[in-house]
Amino acid sequence: MKNILAPSILSADFKILGEQLRTTEKAGAQYIHFDVMDGMFVPSISFGMPVLSSIKGVTGQTMDVHLMVVDPERYVEEFAKCGADSITVHQEACEDLQKTLNLIHGCGVKAGISIKPGTAVETLIPYLDQAEMFLIMSVEPGFGGQAFIPESFGRIRHLRTLLEERGIDADIEVDGGIYHSNVAEVLEAGANVIVSGSGVFKGDIRKNTEDFMEILRRYE
Ligand code: DX5
Ligand code: ZN
Repeated sequence: MKNILAPSILSADFKILGEQLRTTEKAGAQYIHFDVMDGMFVPSISFGMPVLSSIKGVTGQTMDVHLMVVDPERYVEEFAKCGADSITVHQEACEDLQKTLNLIHGCGVKAGISIKPGTAVETLIPYLDQAEMFLIMSVEPGFGGQAFIPESFGRIRHLRTLLEERGIDADIEVDGGIYHSNVAEVLEAGANVIVSGSGVFKGDIRKNTEDFMEILRRYE
């Protein structure tokens, strides 16, 4: 399975955002992870549609939009128009998850379902064939720079088994507290899309990205 790096721009330097995206692209990162926070589903507020529109096309990277937003169906069409290639919603934030997934697919973009660390993996079972990606949060959503919750390894493994049992080769994305030191274990557990904010943007972005890519390729 192809392993993908999705640098989270939450930790980027916004005054030189385009330049930093290009650096991650040149060093091999295939996606850009775009964290939208509404101050309701999570305490913090981040950025939204205008920022996505302005970075879309700066690189050829896939725009991986993670909506940490209550009732995300309200914004699906707008994010799709602004350039989202995939839209991931939180299962906990949707009144009618199936309807939201249909809406995302209707816009011609890939759908992802995310669960917080306290939400049982089994709650995804009815939707395993309804999304292209499943996002296991390995920190409480809301902020960058938090420590990886070790129970996430078992949750990733469990989800990969559930998918394999059904012959589904969907992506498993993991988000929060991932660095060079623990990414191999995350991949070994069954994830193939790796989000990293601090691990990419703090320090030497080119080297951080290249080092991640070296490990990701080794585990393909
Ligand atoms: C947290 C966000 C993450 C965050 C990860 O709510 O969803 O994408 O940016 O940041 P790090 O890699 O610093 O934990
Ligand atoms: Zn995220």
